Amino acid sequence: MNYAKIIGTGSYLPRKVLSNKDLEQLVETSDEWISSRTGIHSRRIASTHETVTSMAEIAAQHALKMAQLEPNQIDLIIVATCTPENFFPSTACLLQHRLKIPDCIAFDMSAACSGFVYALATAEQYIRSGAAKQALVVGSEIMSRVMDWKDRNTCVLFGDGAGAVLLTQANEPGIIDSQLGASGTEKDLLTLPTGLYDDAAYVRMNGREVFKMAVEAMTNSVRHLVEENGLTVQDIDWIIPHQANIRIIKAILTRLNFPMDRAIMTIHEQGNTSGASIPLALDQGIRDHRIQPGQHLLLEAFGGGFTWGGILLKY
Ligand code: COA
Repeated sequence: MNYAKIIGTGSYLPRKVLSNKDLEQLVETSDEWISSRTGIHSRRIASTHETVTSMAEIAAQHALKMAQLEPNQIDLIIVATCTPENFFPSTACLLQHRLKIPDCIAFDMSAACSGFVYALATAEQYIRSGAAKQALVVGSEIMSRVMDWKDRNTCVLFGDGAGAVLLTQANEPGIIDSQLGASGTEKDLLTLPTGLYDDAAYVRMNGREVFKMAVEAMTNSVRHLVEENGLTVQDIDWIIPHQANIRIIKAILTRLNFPMDRAIMTIHEQGNTSGASIPLALDQGIRDHRIQPGQHLLLEAFGGGFTWGGILLKY
């Protein structure tokens, strides 16, 4: 039986820090409002010469170094992004070119803030079936370029960054199970148009509705994954949730009776980096040694679509 196991992770965050105080100069808001309603204190903003691909490349290089793998050993690249440079060529192809990989499968995944979990679950299927041996899965986002900087409902929430994970074929898990879901009925509650059919290529959101659905979907997904696999929530060592709002995370953990200090949090200093938030948090937890080999992890995401998903794995 082929399993998919994580052998490397990496991150990249742009240098520029945008604090809540800085945002007070842009829109009618306050540090107090943003931090008490969201948990966010600051976020990173990409410079004009940075792209989702340049950020993805640095995160991927860090993951390759940790895994002690050469780029040409990768046979599958999936990049989760909702802020690509092009419709085509995909960010995955641009990344393949930068990493000088002569031939491999490469494509982007579009599932908004759930993109990384969708991409990791997809890469796992390739490895399980034997169609790929080593997969690079990246979440990379420049959300600052799709913000309406006059809209205080959205521009205070998001940030930029990239996170990468390398998977390899293994005899034992690794990824134990995944669960993905979507509901297009709520398509109008969280949107980012292309700009091709109207002028506004900005994120728009009904915050209250998104909040409620995010809590419900992610709580159910955790319960489903642990029960399906004969575990209880107490068997999970770390939950790595999508970093959208600390109050969403707290509401989920309270419902699950799961301690806050067993969830990896990056929201305070990164905001919501959409598809990059889970691999960024995972990399942080691994590099600061909170996450240890053999521990059970649960990655949980929710985003526009609506889309959601969870991955249960043994690190
Ligand atoms: N600064 C100050 N006031 C703000 C503000 C800001 N940045 N943004 C909104 N407000 C105002 C609203 O206009 C509203 O004013 P009103 O009562 O006069 O109309 C008031 O604050 C309360 O708004 P409300 O929407 O009830 O706040 P909330 O407690 O729901 O918090 C969010 C708003 C956006 C933080 C919250 O709904 C949320 O996090 N939703 C989920 C968003 C998300 O995670 N999206 C991505 C998912 S992947």
